[in-house]
Amino acid sequence: MAQSRTHRIILAQPPGGPEVLTVETRQIPDLQADEILIQSAACGINRPDQIERLGFYPAPAWAQPGLGLEVSGVVVAVGAEVTTFRTGDEVCALVSGGGYSDYVIAKAGAALPKPAGLDLEDSAGLPETVFTVWANVFESGALAPGETFLVHGGTSGIGTTAIQMAKAHGARVIATAGTKDKCSLCRELGADVAINYREQDFETVCQDEGGVDVVLDMVGGPYVQKNINILKQGGRMVSIAFLQGSRCEIDLMRVMLKRLTLTGSTLRARPDSEKARLAEAIRARVWPWIEAGRLKPVIDSRFALGDVRSAHQRLDGGEHSGKILLIP
Ligand SMILES: NC(=O)c1ccc[n+]([C@@H]2O[C@H](COP(=O)([O-])OP(=O)(O)OC[C@H]3O[C@@H](n4cnc5c(N)ncnc54)[C@H](OP(=O)(O)O)[C@@H]3O)[C@@H](O)[C@H]2O)c1
Repeated sequence: MAQSRTHRIILAQPPGGPEVLTVETRQIPDLQADEILIQSAACGINRPDQIERLGFYPAPAWAQPGLGLEVSGVVVAVGAEVTTFRTGDEVCALVSGGGYSDYVIAKAGAALPKPAGLDLEDSAGLPETVFTVWANVFESGALAPGETFLVHGGTSGIGTTAIQMAKAHGARVIATAGTKDKCSLCRELGADVAINYREQDFETVCQDEGGVDVVLDMVGGPYVQKNINILKQGGRMVSIAFLQGSRCEIDLMRVMLKRLTLTGSTLRARPDSEKARLAEAIRARVWPWIEAGRLKPVIDSRFALGDVRSAHQRLDGGEHSGKILLIP
């Protein structure tokens, strides 16, 4: 590998606040046959990184060491069996770990070419949210054009992506967010209705709007019964997180009478073959939306890789909208 034999990775040991994050320089491991090495243009930060930093989201055994789940950049080396990418290609990729780095190892199957017309740095903000929204809203939730879709956390990385993808698909979109400005951003991104959950009860507003077909929930706790109450016949609730708790009591009668589906998933634990299948579907269905200008990552802020503590302080503060990026 001509560019460098070492790279910087970011570790959180012991777990804790942003102050535990340290930059370490390590040898770049040899590539496996199905892997590519990416010289990073940018590395995306996601809420799961905070949960891992706090010690509640251990990395799978096969993950590269260090924090970080997504990256964009230029391919500088390919494994022996990789036929889909060559050195010099501009890509973005989903990784199971080690994504905050100047050189990132990715499975070729979980990488995608940089969408035409999108800045290479900004492309780092795509993989984690697009894979998550595609898998949960479009596959598990089976959102159909013309249906009504509710996303909580409308200005999160996930929420900003979900609003745009659902609109591009022809759905009616309702989003919740915690401030007036965040609600304005939801509407700018295409939400038909934006609910400031600190001022309005989302259940009442959604009932007044005629109910919803699909909910993407990251709040859990008391939101679950409310989501069930507003789902229409045959509605689907997909859980991807539980910011207000993983436990709750629900009335199963409503689930039965309305023939609801309650489901959920995590992305990181899925096998490589599954991520490769998702990547193919996303390339066919979502990349054209990006190339047509109907979906773009909302970038909140950029920090130098070495200033990762400040980046995580912004994440912890919760005032960001969209994605925070690290620039090596
Ligand atoms: N299952 C999966 O595969 C998967 C994959 C990726 C992400 N996730 C999860 O999806 C969520 C979003 O991820 P992200 O990276 O997009 O996060 P993010 O940009 O940091 O956004 C988190 C959002 O949560 C909202 N929020 C925080 N605390 C809340 C609370 N107590 N009640 C209601 N809303 C609250 C905030 O909105 P307001 O400021 O408007 O309150 C914020 O928009 C995270 O919980 C993450 O763990 C799951």
